[in-house]
Amino acid sequence: MSGSRETVGKTITVAAVLCIACSILVSAAAVSLRSTQQKNKALDKKKNILAAAGLLEEGADVEAVFAEKVKIKIVNLGKGTYNEDFDPATFDQRKAAKDPDTSIKIPSGEDLARIKRRATVASVYEVYDNGQLKQVVFPVHGKGLWSTMYGFLALEPDMRTVAGLGFYEHGETPGLGGEIDNPKWKATWVGKKIFDDSDKMSIDVLKGQTVAGSPKIQYEVDGLSGATLTANGVEDLVRYWLAEDTFKPYIEKIRQRGA
Ligand SMILES: Cc1cc2nc3c(=O)[nH]c(=O)nc-3n(C[C@H](O)[C@H](O)[C@H](O)COP(=O)(O)O)c2cc1C
Repeated sequence: MSGSRETVGKTITVAAVLCIACSILVSAAAVSLRSTQQKNKALDKKKNILAAAGLLEEGADVEAVFAEKVKIKIVNLGKGTYNEDFDPATFDQRKAAKDPDTSIKIPSGEDLARIKRRATVASVYEVYDNGQLKQVVFPVHGKGLWSTMYGFLALEPDMRTVAGLGFYEHGETPGLGGEIDNPKWKATWVGKKIFDDSDKMSIDVLKGQTVAGSPKIQYEVDGLSGATLTANGVEDLVRYWLAEDTFKPYIEKIRQRGA
């Protein structure tokens, strides 16, 4: 009897020691890997920005290309001015969107991207070549069918023509809404005009395919078959982020600068 009690006691002790040892191991691994994970996350973000700008070449040194060509600025949304209060290298837009001091609630009638809150400022990535502005990459996000889709939209210096679009995080269904990652679909955005000649927001993701010869072809993008809700979400988030309350005043400033 006392032998079996001893065995139970020992078993519990061994299990407890094992649990403690394992949890120490896991915590140590989590702590020691955190900085590597953060570095990888930052590198991945830069890769996605360069990809949207069409500057991600096979085997290229992402850090070097980014440092040479991209200037990160923080912009006051709805005003278009630069904001110097935040460090562009460390500014975290998602965190800022949750902090009441640096964010606003979006009135439901205006919440085209269906994100409820947004930061009052945002990063923009100005791409230069020999001192000349070549593109601006805008961070954009909004709801698809199942998830919030996070991506980057690059515009040519006319601030009207799409240079590239890509998403780096979403939870849409592979093969349906997940087709937003299909390079062929992303390519259909390139060259499309967001605004018409009188500067009216005109980009239009169709339900179905574009038709050559359509009078509005320069504003029209192919829909996603079986995933119209996700495709509509992409149109809505592009429209939301390039509007008067968000990046449009900055867009106008860039145009004036170019002129
Ligand atoms: C399991 C499942 C997953 C789906 N995933 C998506 C999706 O990721 N994006 C989307 O727009 N529609 C998705 N749909 C389809 C939508 O419910 C809806 O039918 C579709 O968006 C309508 O587009 P269509 O008119 O082009 O068919 C899914 C449907 C099912 C049953």
